[in-house]
Amino acid sequence: MITKISTLGGYLHEYEKSVADPAKFWSKIAENFYWRKNWDKTLEWNFDEPKIEWFKGGKLNITENIFERNLFLRARQKAIIWEPNDPEEECRSYTYDELYLEVNKFANVLRDMGVQKGDRVTIYLPMIPELAVAMLACAKIGAIHSIVFAGFSARALAERNNDAKAKILITADGGFRGNKVIPLKETADEAAQMAQDIEKMIVVKRTGKEVNMMKDRDFWWEDLMQNASPSASIEVMDAEDPLFILYTSGSTGKPKGVLHTTGGYMVYAAYTFKNVFQYSDNDIYFCAADIGWITGHSYIIYGPLLEGATTIMFEGIPTFPEPDRYWKIIEKHKVNQFYTSPTAIRALIAEGEQWIEKYELKSLKVLGTVGEPINEEAWHWYHDHVGKNRCPIVDTWWQTETGGIMISPLAGIIPTKPAFATLPLPGIQPVVVDKEGNMLEGRNVEGNLCIKHPWPGMARTLWGNAKRFKEAYFSTFPGLYFTGDGVKVDEDGYYRILGRIDDVINVSGHRLGTAEIENALNEHPLVAESAVVGFPHPIKGQGIYAFVVVPDLAPDIHDELRNSLKKGVAKLISPIAKPDEIRFVKELPKTRSGKIMRRILRKIVEGSTDFGDITTLVNPEIIKDLTEN
Ligand code: WT7
Repeated sequence: MITKISTLGGYLHEYEKSVADPAKFWSKIAENFYWRKNWDKTLEWNFDEPKIEWFKGGKLNITENIFERNLFLRARQKAIIWEPNDPEEECRSYTYDELYLEVNKFANVLRDMGVQKGDRVTIYLPMIPELAVAMLACAKIGAIHSIVFAGFSARALAERNNDAKAKILITADGGFRGNKVIPLKETADEAAQMAQDIEKMIVVKRTGKEVNMMKDRDFWWEDLMQNASPSASIEVMDAEDPLFILYTSGSTGKPKGVLHTTGGYMVYAAYTFKNVFQYSDNDIYFCAADIGWITGHSYIIYGPLLEGATTIMFEGIPTFPEPDRYWKIIEKHKVNQFYTSPTAIRALIAEGEQWIEKYELKSLKVLGTVGEPINEEAWHWYHDHVGKNRCPIVDTWWQTETGGIMISPLAGIIPTKPAFATLPLPGIQPVVVDKEGNMLEGRNVEGNLCIKHPWPGMARTLWGNAKRFKEAYFSTFPGLYFTGDGVKVDEDGYYRILGRIDDVINVSGHRLGTAEIENALNEHPLVAESAVVGFPHPIKGQGIYAFVVVPDLAPDIHDELRNSLKKGVAKLISPIAKPDEIRFVKELPKTRSGKIMRRILRKIVEGSTDFGDITTLVNPEIIKDLTEN
């Protein structure tokens, strides 16, 4: 197990060591794990190609580090406590032993279907234990899991499957979310028509609703598991063999298949989990994210299970059946660490204090937030009403691409400041650069956040697209990893994340590319073109504002068209991507080269008239039009 940093002095000391000799620092941490063979070289890298290799030549399996490494001590300890959507339904929990057997069984099911090391498997499941079993079974046999959030549409699922070329899709007859039933199998069937690679579907029974099962293609999970043997061998992986792909949005329309590999990701997920949350043996840890996002991968499953934690997996939503669900779960399971998003906190603030007042929440020791900047008001409410003024808040900044938390307080060790992610974790070397790439050193600076040295958890490439990997992260500022975020370093050297500076918007902690929403809008036969920008939204952090050009638009169909555009986006991408506001305009502000000037649209949405330099605008007369209506 990883030894926690326990004092501020300890942090400073570790940080210094990690910068002086990163390879030595990380190799010491990696020694905590079980390797079938030690690595030949700790780190090989350059950020030009880029090439990033950690623990090369080392042989291991991440599930052996979860199970065999923990089983002796924790066979009967709960690994996963599953809390269903409906509180009336019984909780299911799995000890390390029980989870191990389920994973083995499903590993055999996959092997029987012909899945081999390096094959991709798409997982499209709700937050049920089978999701954890499926991902770990993939890891056990060396298959690369590609989990697609169950809120995504058939098109989005097909697009991801087409990129990863997975032959197997794992889904469910449906999912429960609040009072809704999500017809996942129907969506998966629709996706399969657009995703020719899918040969087989494994379907978990969750809702019991009748679904269409195609002969020789679709199989019930339960049937396959019934006869599966509970013992399975691991696939011995190289440290740099792929572990998973996770798609995320970028500034172009096509999602990026972020690839994480085995050894470095394992070391980083476990190290950051243990230190940031200061997890102690027998603590109960609850991360309210969905496993469909990186937060769930690293901090519901891999990080906690590697460190022998008890992790809660929650199927539902915070407001069902009533807006006290989180507090109920925390009380019921005596949760010690709780991790959620600023959007969830703001939504619960809006429900009123009466929902939390009756809960003492005595078990809580640490609170965490992730996904978007947290405003001071939400920070204070979280601190006062949830933490009762005695729990440190860890505001954790990181990304799908970083694999784990990068800038964050260590709970109770690094003094916090509302809305600040505070300081980099050991091993992380952030730099701030201006537009031209000049380093802005020292304190009281503001600019673009980059990282100048590799860390074990970082993405290695984009699936099948090394060129785009280089362009997106290593080309804006050569020699540096570019995060896409703006940052401010204050007089204490504390980092405050300001949000995305590229064409990515962050809605409720979900990352969406403006281009993908525009593409979806443009598919409507009446739409000529569109431009999407984010705007400050009191609950969601950012809302989606769409400017849409519809030639010859009849005034009486405005509302109808707005509705049909919103529905269209939900259908093509996901309900998350639905614009909050749609405004019909005659033209969009463009540069001479035809590029939409989103900067101007952002100003308009904010109600500002300070447009800055507009000399490159080819149609300046439209500004008047846009500001007047
Ligand atoms: C983007 C990454 C990392 C898991 C969830 C999101 C924003 C993330 C914070 C934070 C301010 C944050 C950034 C980042 N972000 N955490 N604590 N404070 N902003 O992962 O979907 O890959 O999005 O989320 O803008 O670049 P993601």
